[in-house]
Amino acid sequence: MTYSVSIGFRILKIHKTTPNMFRQCIPAILKSAIGMAFGSVLATTVLTSTACAADGLTVYSYRQPFLVEHLLDEFRAKTGIAVEVLYAKKGLIERLKLEGSGSPADVLLSSNTLRLIEAKEAGLTQPINRLAVETAIPMNLVDEDRHWIGLTRRGRILYANEETVPQGDIHDYRDLASPDNAYRVCLRSWRHPYNIGLVAYMISSVGELATEDWIRGVQNKLGRKPQGNDRAQIRAVNAGECDVAIANSYYFGVMQSDPEQVANTLKVYPIFPRFTADHGTFGFISGIALLKSADDLDAAGRLIDFFVSPGAQRAYARKNHEFPAHRMFRGMTNDEAMLDNRPLSNAMVYRRTALDLINRVIE
Ligand SMILES: [Fe+2]
Repeated sequence: MTYSVSIGFRILKIHKTTPNMFRQCIPAILKSAIGMAFGSVLATTVLTSTACAADGLTVYSYRQPFLVEHLLDEFRAKTGIAVEVLYAKKGLIERLKLEGSGSPADVLLSSNTLRLIEAKEAGLTQPINRLAVETAIPMNLVDEDRHWIGLTRRGRILYANEETVPQGDIHDYRDLASPDNAYRVCLRSWRHPYNIGLVAYMISSVGELATEDWIRGVQNKLGRKPQGNDRAQIRAVNAGECDVAIANSYYFGVMQSDPEQVANTLKVYPIFPRFTADHGTFGFISGIALLKSADDLDAAGRLIDFFVSPGAQRAYARKNHEFPAHRMFRGMTNDEAMLDNRPLSNAMVYRRTALDLINRVIE
């Protein structure tokens, strides 16, 4: 049998009949070859180990090294299983498609739920059948076929200027579009996956027509053209360019704990809004998918078990000011208790409709 990987103009073939020592080096060989070919595509590529791993695991991670490495160090120490990681801001799913069944990757980590869904739709994933997962992770944060699971949660929330928006005045996403107030709104591009997710969630909560009206209403109240990242929206609220903005919940904690950014948060307070009385704050997840190319399901399963263990859950979430997905942490803070607990995949089926709606309303 032959692993065949197309890399741009190059084809790399690795025979499964190669001596054991060589087979153990396959991940490293593939990575270095593909890394060269994709160097310009991948914004950051860090190989955490260049040595050939003895029957180790390979993680493809859209999540950054500072979030993941401290946990993997613990996993390596506890289990003796070698783990290599390929970090990239983009291009990993495309790469998995090219590598096919010969991919060295066992699991995929992403903070973008839509990427996990995309990996599943591309046929790159397989069911995670682990008792530890069933015990730990609530079903609403798990793919219906268990191809991916949530590890941490983050709210897509609102941030208001304390000088211009009285506490309690805004408590529903729809207040942003309301003609009853004159609050100027800031947000990043409507077409960013974070906003597409929010719009999809809104469609699942209040329907397509009301969502279209909402987008139009928000658009009419923009304090400036959509631009920048989520942190830029919080800065704009702090600077008084807007009264209220949409951004993810963890950015507030990240900025407040950074001496260089804390000054941009001092006039800002977060709001965990609702759509209706029974529909809480929209929360995305960061998660892990088990890849079809995983060749040591036991080792991959042990890594997943580790990620859902209470200690790892707490450490992983804390590092980025997120909420652990583990059911034992549910409702432990007022903010977390505001997050919607309907299955995320119910909302995400509307993601294409969401983009169509955005394209219809926004030039
Ligand atoms: Fe983010």
